[in-house]
Amino acid sequence: MQRLANKRILLGVTGGVAAYKSAELIRRLRDQNVDVRVVMTKGSQQFITPLTLQALSGNPVSIDLLDPAAEAAMGHIELARWADLVLVAPATANFMARLAHGHAEDLLTTLCLATDAPICLAPAMNQAMWRDASTQANRDVLVKKGVKMFGPGSGSQACGDIGPGRMLEVDELVELSSAMFESQLLTGKRVMITAGPTREALDPVRYISNHSSGKMGYALAEAASEAGASVTLISGPVHLQPPERVDRVSVNSAREMHDAVHENIQDCDVFIACAAVADYRPMDVSEHKIKKDTTLDHDELHLILVRNPDIVASVAALQSKPFVVGFAAETQDVLSYAAEKLERKRLDMIVANNVSLDGIGFNSDENAVTVLATNLEETLDQTSKPALARKLIELVVGQMGLRTSE
Ligand code: C5P
Repeated sequence: MQRLANKRILLGVTGGVAAYKSAELIRRLRDQNVDVRVVMTKGSQQFITPLTLQALSGNPVSIDLLDPAAEAAMGHIELARWADLVLVAPATANFMARLAHGHAEDLLTTLCLATDAPICLAPAMNQAMWRDASTQANRDVLVKKGVKMFGPGSGSQACGDIGPGRMLEVDELVELSSAMFESQLLTGKRVMITAGPTREALDPVRYISNHSSGKMGYALAEAASEAGASVTLISGPVHLQPPERVDRVSVNSAREMHDAVHENIQDCDVFIACAAVADYRPMDVSEHKIKKDTTLDHDELHLILVRNPDIVASVAALQSKPFVVGFAAETQDVLSYAAEKLERKRLDMIVANNVSLDGIGFNSDENAVTVLATNLEETLDQTSKPALARKLIELVVGQMGLRTSE
């Protein structure tokens, strides 16, 4: 269940009696630290008010597709991108029909078309409506398109009938949503990830470092763990909590990171170098704080820097090497620099991003990258770092399959 922590769930509420359960569903999701945003259809507001769902989710509720104020706050495409999972609970027969046929006449159906996130429906309707051939045909179309059906359950219904069509209980919906974030892609595999910046000491109080927040590396550690791997995260100094079940080793300098990597690299299947390692360190670390030179003719302080070990290249050079993934954070000629690094460092894959663009890369919550490997060039559009991390892990698994079958 911890897998739900910090996930972004877009909860669609459509017009059925079971909409009263959506309030409880939001509470249970919030208990799991899920960031919930609610989208209501017109019909659902006959059953429960937007104000209630806004208060419980802690976020404004979105209703209209053509509402300029709402679009200015978080437009429909932005919402579609924001979501890690779209859960429609309750999902009426009418909503299923509209979704099955690709309608986009309101906000919720439009979001479902625009999102890359998995879509899950919790159908809720009268048993005869559920059994009806049209509903069953719509269900089949949706399942074929990859939409997941949570239920429906069976039992007594608000109308007095007994049979299939009841919305699943809230606890079951939370459980099933959590399971959506699990995959078996890396079960039994060991993954090591470096993350964050390094600090290269000048003296006891000063250091050279960079703006890396560690968010991408930590998201990768979480995604690898969700995919079933046992994960070691070698982390530079960052302000992030390690994901659950991830073994974190904290280091400061590039040399400490290098040593921690090589102490733990045995039997690793995958090594992902996401850290922004300082290429150079001061040659001498002063034992005491370096003092200002107050003589008039000495305005300059000269530092001599020496090269740090290239950690990812040293792992790629190991005799029995894991599948090695590097990152190339560049501000120009991103792809050609990345391709050159892939070859020179003898990597199996490289993830290239342009850190000069606003809103992505260093210190941001989102990223957009191009992944290069032998016979692979795939661009992953801008999205949250956790969502991107899951896609990267899938690509790594795909390429590893290729490598072992060669
Ligand atoms: O050469 P450059 O620093 O651009 O390469 C970036 C890639 O190499 C990243 O994957 C980074 O984690 C890794 N790297 C490393 N050790 C270094 C420098 C970079 O592992 N000393």
